[in-house]
Amino acid sequence: MQVLTTIQELKDFKKSLIHQDTLGLVPTMGALHKGHQSLMQKSIQQNTHTIVSIFVNPTQFGPTEDFNKYPRTLEKDCEICQKLGVSAVFAPQITEMYQKEDEITLNPPKSMGYVFEGFVRENHFNGVLQVVLKLFNLIQPHFAYFGQKDAQQLLILKRLVQDMFLPLTIIPCETIRDADGLALSSRNIYLSEEERTIALEIPKALQKMETLFKQGCNSSKELIAQAKTCISHVELDYFTITDYNLHITSTPKHNEAIALIAGKVGKTRLLDNLWF
Ligand code: PAJ
Repeated sequence: MQVLTTIQELKDFKKSLIHQDTLGLVPTMGALHKGHQSLMQKSIQQNTHTIVSIFVNPTQFGPTEDFNKYPRTLEKDCEICQKLGVSAVFAPQITEMYQKEDEITLNPPKSMGYVFEGFVRENHFNGVLQVVLKLFNLIQPHFAYFGQKDAQQLLILKRLVQDMFLPLTIIPCETIRDADGLALSSRNIYLSEEERTIALEIPKALQKMETLFKQGCNSSKELIAQAKTCISHVELDYFTITDYNLHITSTPKHNEAIALIAGKVGKTRLLDNLWF
């Protein structure tokens, strides 16, 4: 497995591929856990080569967010990638990815980019779009793998591909959870033992919602009210049901709706969701 840190090295790697090869890209910010690994495994299964990018992207962090504190474990991450059979890791420096002070930026659709995560985290999705478009253009993958765990990010990136006619396909990957139900996240390491127990209110609420939906309840109001009875200590930012355009819906339908939940436990923000 090659570890590429410059765009030139990446170009040289690309030149070594042959025409029929398919290339899968798994964009990450590192601190790789089993959730990331499931994306990598899917890409490895489906493509001749897989590139994992590891880049803690400064433009998607707000000024008061955890950019400096974000876990950086490149050596361990590379070992994981190598064991799984990744062809190359692309781990550039910030100056390699952002070469000018005042660059062109991208705005997400107004109706999708400034609600929920985009409301709480101003300009977060502008930064995600900017870095992911750079990665797509540099790497030119046939397929790019993203987790359903970050539902809003996934839906906005699908729109990037559609709206800009990008020649690649986004593959959604299901959320991987710990045995206790908590969705895996690089930020879970910030949780104390007590906070982690509180955090479990989130998957419990979603589980309750899923059970009720499967039993035939299709009223968002009822589903949310029932699911909220599981939440007593998590400080909720939002808990809502929308369609894939992130429009709030009163009657979720199978394969057309998601429940989005985000909240704080102590200082840690947690995200989770349910795809109906
Ligand atoms: P990061 O948080 O490192 O996540 C990288 C990818 O792993 C994302 O597609 C995310 O949805 C997926 N992922 C995270 N936890 C998961 C879980 N428990 N189960 C399944 N997939 C999971 O998301 C980002 O990085 C960045 O915003 C990025 C897209 C790399 C742009 O900088």
